[in-house]
Amino acid sequence: MIWKRWSRSERTTAEAAPEALLAPGLSDASRFDPGLTGTTSTASDGPTVFAAGTADGTREARPAFLDTLWREPEEGPRNQALPRFSASASDDVESTDADSSLSRRKLALRDALGASQPVIGRESFAGRHDALAQLIGCIEQQRVHVVIYGERGIGKTSLAHVFAETAREARYLVLYGSCGTEAHFDAMFRAFAARIPRLYHKSVLPNSAEAERGDHFDTMLEEHFGPRELADLFADVTGTRVIIILDEYDRVLDPNFRRDVAELIKNLSDRAARVQLVLTGVAQNLDELIGYAPSIRRNIVGLPMRPLSAAEVREVIAIGEVAAEIRYSDEAVAMVTAMAGGSPYLVRLLAHQAGLAALTDKRSVVDEKHGRAAIERVLTDWNASLPRRVQASLGRDEARSQWPLLIAAARAGSSADGYFGVDDVYTELGGTQSPPLIERDLKRFAHPHDLLELHEFESEVRFRFRYPGVSSLLLMSAAMARMTP
Ligand SMILES: Nc1ncnc2c1ncn2[C@@H]1O[C@H](COP(=O)(O)OP(=O)(O)OP(=O)(O)O)[C@@H](O)[C@H]1O
Ligand SMILES: [Mg+2]
Repeated sequence: MIWKRWSRSERTTAEAAPEALLAPGLSDASRFDPGLTGTTSTASDGPTVFAAGTADGTREARPAFLDTLWREPEEGPRNQALPRFSASASDDVESTDADSSLSRRKLALRDALGASQPVIGRESFAGRHDALAQLIGCIEQQRVHVVIYGERGIGKTSLAHVFAETAREARYLVLYGSCGTEAHFDAMFRAFAARIPRLYHKSVLPNSAEAERGDHFDTMLEEHFGPRELADLFADVTGTRVIIILDEYDRVLDPNFRRDVAELIKNLSDRAARVQLVLTGVAQNLDELIGYAPSIRRNIVGLPMRPLSAAEVREVIAIGEVAAEIRYSDEAVAMVTAMAGGSPYLVRLLAHQAGLAALTDKRSVVDEKHGRAAIERVLTDWNASLPRRVQASLGRDEARSQWPLLIAAARAGSSADGYFGVDDVYTELGGTQSPPLIERDLKRFAHPHDLLELHEFESEVRFRFRYPGVSSLLLMSAAMARMTP
């Protein structure tokens, strides 16, 4: 995970020097101290205590978003008009509205930087020239199948969409499908076959009745078929090249599906068919996604997605700048870059919120204050999206005093399956605590319905965060604490 690489290399004095924990410039309400300001006690019966305190010694240490957790909503003035939409469903902003230009810019910012959708067109796609070139090279020059892998939100689907657009321009027939947990080989590939015109089958002459009927390849499949029969059919594709994109391949639960896809890849390669597969999925390495499949190793290329560079982050932000006619100050850009750790998802989430904060302030320059507001907002939203029970677990005293341990655990658990052991946490803590104490303290959070799950694999104890959102929240809290002026 990006966070892990990044936080290891950038662990700064903030974790060693208590006074650096309070990011200067934070208002009192948004001050944050992850509880690193004390020393550890090695008392054998109580928890390892990270004494809570702040630089001025007057306030209790806790992230600001936890402070606001249980606050009652303030009562607004009476007779205040109820909130209304600022634009119609067709995205037209009421022109009589005095704030219409502002509303339009907010909508434009959302379209440019909204983080909930993958990029589907080149105009909103930043950077990634090398990845796109590599992908094209694999398909066009090497004629292999490709597996795009990387962590969640790193931009796999966006790359696949932009690649599809580029390939269609070169007259490839590109078929896109997203895998679900219930994916079945024959249903999924029958649907793909139903989108390949029969005209492209070598047995069909261009002006024949079959070609005129507008049938598709699915009509040539038996009711039940496997990878071999499908490869036989696909080997007869002529007059075009077909690319089948299987997105979210990691979600498929059925091992038979993966086995059949591997078999299909093998058969397509053996027959030099004009059909190539591009698989994408969350994984840290190729094996994790396709399993141990030596028979197809020669026929596939793994394409790992790396974190965005600082220049690419700037490019993403620039797309928002143009769309909403705003400018991000160098400080705001630096803040987003540091907090996002190369994740395009986080870059957009933070830059969007920071831009919105500026526009709401009626400013055309996004500054550091808006950046901080965005981070607080994201943390608060993430926290609010967790079940109440988990929010309460995070807010309790024990979690507060063990904040560094929990953050180290979150870093340690950044592998694709989320599991980590005591040794991983020991490393993340820089060897400052003994493994038995770490194990004991982690177990305090591993009760039923608590923050961690505990699994015993043979003689080894492994932990995992029960809700993945908790580790993201802890990591961003830690990153926020590390921010220097
Ligand atoms: N090159 C890019 N330029 C601009 N925004 C990007 C780029 N790549 C990804 N994004 C944005 O980052 C977010 C995550 O991207 P995307 O959905 O493609 O990632 P993913 O790796 O497929 O995620 P998941 O693992 O959840 O499937 C989206 O908001 C998307 O718009
Ligand atoms: Mg995706």
